[in-house]
Amino acid sequence: MPKHVLRHFGLVMLTLIACATLAVAQGLNPVPLPQPQTSGGRPLMQVLKDRHTSREFSSQKLPPQVLSNLLWAAFGVNRPDSGKRTAPSAMNWQEIDIYVATQDGLYVYDAKANALIPVLAQDVRGATGQQPFVKEAPVNLFYVADLAKTGRAGGEDQILYTAADTGFIAQNVYLFCASEGLAAVVRGSVDRGALAKLAKLRPDQKIILAQTVGYPKK
Ligand SMILES: Cc1cc2nc3c(=O)[nH]c(=O)nc-3n(C[C@H](O)[C@H](O)[C@H](O)COP(=O)(O)O)c2cc1C
Repeated sequence: MPKHVLRHFGLVMLTLIACATLAVAQGLNPVPLPQPQTSGGRPLMQVLKDRHTSREFSSQKLPPQVLSNLLWAAFGVNRPDSGKRTAPSAMNWQEIDIYVATQDGLYVYDAKANALIPVLAQDVRGATGQQPFVKEAPVNLFYVADLAKTGRAGGEDQILYTAADTGFIAQNVYLFCASEGLAAVVRGSVDRGALAKLAKLRPDQKIILAQTVGYPKK
């Protein structure tokens, strides 16, 4: 093979390896989650008795299995045949995306693939709220309505339905946390403009609420 062709081939290979290394270094590859454990948990009536808001979190990380179970409970696919989910959504829009901020970075939950899709290789927990515990707690979720999925609904319907759909998901998270002995608080106190910019949201993606989850502070 002529030398210049070999040199060109070498350069292409080096560029490919450099790109792949950079992507991995930035943590920009999808992170598969363990298969969610969809059996077990405490009896529903006891869980309802225990559901409450907590604002004191340990900094202990959630193991991947617990995070997977939490996200499945929140808005996972519970009927694979139809792709429908653990929470209802108006007209089955499934328009709420769950953003997951951890120490490792910011991700979006892909329920169908059961994976975390990276958004930023950066710890943005502190930017998900205005209360001091947000940057200590291991997981801050924020719920983003993708208005592109809300059909021809406009104005009041869009506002009411996206808020209601988020409420169901947030309650699923509260119930999962009550069942598993985790602490949780749903939050409206979010600087939505700043967080949307950081998360590179489109103008038709609206942050509805956030929710902090972690182990209770001892
Ligand atoms: C829509 C909504 C927004 C909330 N926003 C916040 C918030 O920004 N910060 C906070 O600490 N708690 C927030 N909360 C939690 C409430 O303060 C809490 O649910 C209420 O005090 C009742 O307590 P309980 O959840 O233990 O029943 C919010 C709750 C809801 C439903």
